Amino acid sequence: MKTLKSVFALAMSALIVITATIYSGVYPFGADTPHNNLTYWLLDTARDRSVAVASKDIAVPDLQQVDLLIAGATDYNEMCSGCHLQPGQKSSEISLGLYPAPPNLSAVKSSEMKNETLAQRQFWTIKHGIKASGMPAWGLTHSDERIWAMVAFLQKLPHMTALQYQILSQAGISQEDSQGHH
Ligand code: HEC
Repeated sequence: MKTLKSVFALAMSALIVITATIYSGVYPFGADTPHNNLTYWLLDTARDRSVAVASKDIAVPDLQQVDLLIAGATDYNEMCSGCHLQPGQKSSEISLGLYPAPPNLSAVKSSEMKNETLAQRQFWTIKHGIKASGMPAWGLTHSDERIWAMVAFLQKLPHMTALQYQILSQAGISQEDSQGHH
């Protein structure tokens, strides 16, 4: 009984301290001040677990198709590269100014994640976005097919040269032109 009481008292004081801190307005919300380690860990782990659980049953289609790659390259170049960069680029004004920083998706990342798991997570993240970061939910305005095309492209992007990137991301535009729409 006594331990129960002190656990309760401890929880109450923790709650009071947290509430007082929030209302005092001392917690920095400027994007140019990084989170403290505890807040960073909380947000990072919660986001990571959330995406992992939400995306684990998504069926991944065949991503090895040239059409997908070209469509994905065009969309990536227009909608994503400002934040997530392209081969040969180290940063942009947006990538430097955003917090959390957008990962450089053109850089090779060593990861133990299976290709399929990575594709599932990328698809989910592109479709639904990430709260309170710069990552928009593209699923509100784009079909699943277009999102899979970007996922297909993202699998190749880290291994591309700047020239290959230029050719591929322009190929879709000239294809659209020759079909008569812009
Ligand atoms: C305005 C900037 C911005 C734009 C535009 C943007 N993103 Fe993001 N994106 C982010 C940020 C910031 C994160 C990291 C969010 C976090 O860590 O909480 C992110 C995360 C991601 C991730 C998860 C990466 C990882 O390793 O966890 C993927 C995949 C992604 N974006 C793909 C895209 C694609 C594809 C597009 C274009 C359709 C796009 N993003 C457009 C800012 C942006």
